[in-house]
Amino acid sequence: MKISVIGTGYVGLVTGTCLAETGNEVLCVDIDEQKVKKMQNGEVPIYEPHLDVLFERNIKANRLKFTTSLQEGLDHGEVIFLALPTPEDEDGSADLKYILGVAKDIGKLMTEYKVIVDKSTVPVGTSDKVKEAIAENSSVDFDVVSNPEFLREGFAVDDFLKPERIVVGASSQRAIDIMQTLYKPFVRSGNPIIIMDERSAELTKYAANAFLATKITFMNEIANFCDKVGADVDKVRIGMGTDSRIGKRFLFPGIGYGGSCFPKDVKALHKSGKDSNYDFKILDAVINVNQNQKTILVPRINAFFNNDVKDKTFAVWGLAFKPETDDIREAPSLYIINELLDAGAKIKAFDPEAMPNVKRKLGDKIEFSTDMYKALEDADALIICTEWSIFRTPRFDKIKEKLNHKVIFDGRNLYDSKDPAEYGLDYYSIGRP
Ligand code: UDX
Repeated sequence: MKISVIGTGYVGLVTGTCLAETGNEVLCVDIDEQKVKKMQNGEVPIYEPHLDVLFERNIKANRLKFTTSLQEGLDHGEVIFLALPTPEDEDGSADLKYILGVAKDIGKLMTEYKVIVDKSTVPVGTSDKVKEAIAENSSVDFDVVSNPEFLREGFAVDDFLKPERIVVGASSQRAIDIMQTLYKPFVRSGNPIIIMDERSAELTKYAANAFLATKITFMNEIANFCDKVGADVDKVRIGMGTDSRIGKRFLFPGIGYGGSCFPKDVKALHKSGKDSNYDFKILDAVINVNQNQKTILVPRINAFFNNDVKDKTFAVWGLAFKPETDDIREAPSLYIINELLDAGAKIKAFDPEAMPNVKRKLGDKIEFSTDMYKALEDADALIICTEWSIFRTPRFDKIKEKLNHKVIFDGRNLYDSKDPAEYGLDYYSIGRP
């Protein structure tokens, strides 16, 4: 099939590349000339495991191309994916200016039947707005489909190639048939393509993300309570998670959820509720608890240093909002670092991928280390913010030797408490004695 993808951010790029992998001819459109040039030269603009291999293979096979021309994109694709940003507006709602702007242009440029597929996460009712924006500018026949993505950063290629389910919101059989043909190679395992109306598809995405964010937040509250009553959240987690109605996944407490999706989507669903006179009390609580959780380690650090962290140096392992990504959007590390900087502390950070992004944001406010152990030199304490594999089995003897105060504050519960203790290190984690 001939496919065009408008927008080559993280979702658009993964979508375009993976659709090329199953033999489709894919043309990706982006307004950023420099980015398009780089991609034409085979450069992947984001860090996402395995994407580079597929990217190179499909460019070589002439199945994956790039352009800045929306007209070319519309002439090429029978199916047009919209993978455009929906940034958070000041009031928490999703800003639709990019999607509706492109929809209007599509209406003006389209000359034959197209299926316009919305991949972006958008409030309920957006597909109707997209239809209106296209129809106002065109008399050509077209269909709009809502096809939310459920890709996790760091696993996006695998999630796209082997999805647990594909949700297609459409009301025309012609569009449904095209979408089923397009996605057939990805559901050979028998996982379903779930067909529904557009509004339900739009809400499915928000409901899934808000539920997962709530699940994590619930566990964070249980962990905070464990700290108060001397229980161990690891034991509670395993005890709960073995009930298949609850499930083992997404029960890991820590310093809060971050990233480009959960924070934005929970707020957007909350705002959509308000707009429809529905007060999502549970989401209100999730947003507040998560905000507090991001800096939950700071009072503990302050208590350890008798409320005097001025001129203390903290080594920070992990800056990305989660492992296997260089993404620092809503990363808890930044909130912790900013609070410590405000209190006059110094930071020496190490992250395998995210340091360039943090450097762009914080400049010289913090020091960056080329190695996880170098970050410990002259540091008073170690703070762990991201569970990169490299931090999971460290040399505790080295940590002890280098730190002035022999203490680790672990926001990701990476170690058995007895391991650092064996080396005489103080160890504070989340919800565990
Ligand atoms: C998420 C959804 O999983 C994905 O389906 C959607 O399309 C986009 O949003 P992503 O943001 O890439 O994906 O990361 P994910 O692995 O889901 O983690 C989200 C956040 O939750 C991270 O900050 C992570 O650290 C946190 N988390 C996750 C926990 O704190 N505990 C857990 O048990 C799981």
